[in-house]
Amino acid sequence: MSPLKECIINNNTNINPLWIMRQAGRYLPEFREIREKNPDFIKLCLNKNITPEITIQPLKRFKFDAAIIFSDILMLPYGLGQEVKFTKGFGPSLGEIDFKKINVKDEDFSKKLKPVYDAINLVSKDKALKNRELIGFVGAPWTIYVYMKNRQSPNKSKNFLIEGNFNKENVSQSIKIITQFLKLHIKNQVDSGATIIQIFDSWAELIKDDSSREDFIYSPTKELVDYTKKLGIPVICFPRGVKTYKKFCEFVNPDVISIDYEIDPKSIVTEIKIPIQGGLDPKILLSDKNQLKKEVNKYLEIFKDHPYIFNLGHGILPDTKIEMVEHLVNLVKDFK
Ligand code: CP3
Repeated sequence: MSPLKECIINNNTNINPLWIMRQAGRYLPEFREIREKNPDFIKLCLNKNITPEITIQPLKRFKFDAAIIFSDILMLPYGLGQEVKFTKGFGPSLGEIDFKKINVKDEDFSKKLKPVYDAINLVSKDKALKNRELIGFVGAPWTIYVYMKNRQSPNKSKNFLIEGNFNKENVSQSIKIITQFLKLHIKNQVDSGATIIQIFDSWAELIKDDSSREDFIYSPTKELVDYTKKLGIPVICFPRGVKTYKKFCEFVNPDVISIDYEIDPKSIVTEIKIPIQGGLDPKILLSDKNQLKKEVNKYLEIFKDHPYIFNLGHGILPDTKIEMVEHLVNLVKDFK
């Protein structure tokens, strides 16, 4: 069994499998080289001649225990016919969409995203995947709703939930539609060879009250988790900034919970029984090797007797030096 499955399925605490969120990305010179030649990010995500290579790039350098398919959570709105563009230094900008008018057939959605599924299939057969898992992923319904409605990252318009027509019934209806297509997107990835699914709820922190949290985060995410489990595939949830990790786990019951860097690892380890992933602040990788060692050992020490997958508390930052990642991998692999 692969180290990742040993940890997730057998709850083996003697190994600390390791991968990094956004491990295929801008901190790698070989990725930047490809990216320069492919200015249209969505087109790049749909180029099955290139995405398998990008997916495997980090595995060639580092002893990571998983590959994560090179794609984006915003391929979902793209599949639903919303325009999605990425501008340098700004992030994503999306076109207008009327949720009430979404009328996309399953087969048309799957056809539009077929290159993503073909790429998963190609990577799953690559020898670099020997004894490693291939992680497929989706954005959580809430986070996808935030992008589709706000049409850009919400930190640039903080009042997303306060202003505008925030009608709970409308939000629920929109989230329902999104969830249906997320299920299809998960199934297509699993059918193509993804062996684990991670659900990214990058904007869980925007919701401050318990009842909305239950309606927009816990319930729709649980629907995806139950669905993925039925497909026989382990599922990792990353409700970034949710602050209520214990309650989230009790309600949603994922196979693994991925924590952000604002969570105190000492208290979470006593509160949560299921395997835990992540936590380390990505900014630590911009400091020095001593600092890195101190922080990495802190996490490994705290999770010594708990099934623990080493990862960061959010995506690796583009300014991270390769040698710091190498050092991180050695620290995790040599920890006794
Ligand atoms: O290596 C991997 O992790 C796999 C690929 C992956 C990407 N995006 C590629 C990417 C994954 C898993 C994602 C997830 C994703 N995408 C999330 C959830 C995780 C998180 O960061 O909270 C979100 C919110 C998005 C949406 C998105 N995509 C944003 C906001 C941006 C712009 C900001 C940024 O980080 O650059 C992207 C672009 C993006 N997605 C890049 C990559 C490698 C950078 C593209 C570039 O080269 O400019």
